[in-house]
Amino acid sequence: MSYALITGASKGIGKEIAKELANRKYNLLLVARSGDLLAKVAQEITETYQVKVDFLAIDLAAIGVAHKIYDWVNAKQYEVSVLVNNAGYGLVGALEDYSVEANRDMMTLNMLTLTEMCQVFLPMLKKQTKAYILNIASSTAYQALPFMAIYAATKVFVLNFSRGLKHELSDTSVSVTVVSPGSTATDFNDRAQVGEKALKAAEKVMMLPKEVAQIAVKEMFEGSTEVVTGLVNKLGAFLAWIAPKTITEKVAKGIYQK
Ligand SMILES: NC(=O)c1ccc[n+]([C@@H]2O[C@H](COP(=O)([O-])OP(=O)(O)OC[C@H]3O[C@@H](n4cnc5c(N)ncnc54)[C@H](OP(=O)(O)O)[C@@H]3O)[C@@H](O)[C@H]2O)c1
Repeated sequence: MSYALITGASKGIGKEIAKELANRKYNLLLVARSGDLLAKVAQEITETYQVKVDFLAIDLAAIGVAHKIYDWVNAKQYEVSVLVNNAGYGLVGALEDYSVEANRDMMTLNMLTLTEMCQVFLPMLKKQTKAYILNIASSTAYQALPFMAIYAATKVFVLNFSRGLKHELSDTSVSVTVVSPGSTATDFNDRAQVGEKALKAAEKVMMLPKEVAQIAVKEMFEGSTEVVTGLVNKLGAFLAWIAPKTITEKVAKGIYQK
């Protein structure tokens, strides 16, 4: 059986996606920074699902990291047929609340690394009888978000890049799916430094990472192009599409401004 490579698999949505794929008997390659967490996840999954699991602790916000991951995969002679670009994070606050470098690292991880992973692994994916790319965007991709402006914009990139790539690859064996979760109970809000108001709003509509992972993996194997998880988030994306932008942006500003 070939391997599924999942970025951001040490916890949260990525860890649950890893379990979903193990349940479908995929061997796994787990990537994130925390080697200790990855080792624990690898052991848990190996014991529960009897699949092969290897992991690589590496910073995905580093320039050119996709080549290093590919070299590791190649040296170990793994064949990847599922690529899940899940690692990502947000930062809540005004543009100048964070250093130029902090904002750049977020953009690098959320956009550049995701894009380069797709590009670098494409020849290997194309060789497979059937292969899948699953990119994780966000419900924030459906409108501009004052005080989370960069993060939301990175997810617009993920959404549109994935849609474009899907059609580019329509004559190949590679299917591309982009999944946009809404508020999900992970460590995301801690790292994003979400304020009280936004946290309270998020808690009302929170999904579990396992629910999100189940939807994402099912839709990926069904060949869906674009998926928003959960009814409330689907409705939110639709309202953001039909409502005047100034209104949705003012509402978002009220929620995200600390
Ligand atoms: N939770 C939400 O409400 C929500 C909503 C919409 C979209 N999303 C998206 O869902 C995806 C997963 O997030 P999550 O909610 O599961 O958050 P999480 O629990 O914080 O998990 C993030 C994962 O990404 C990894 N990661 C972060 N920075 C990294 C780096 N520089 N290099 C390598 N790995 C890195 C983390 O591992 P290490 O810390 O070990 O590196 C972890 O495995 C993200 O793309 C996020 O934007 C989340």
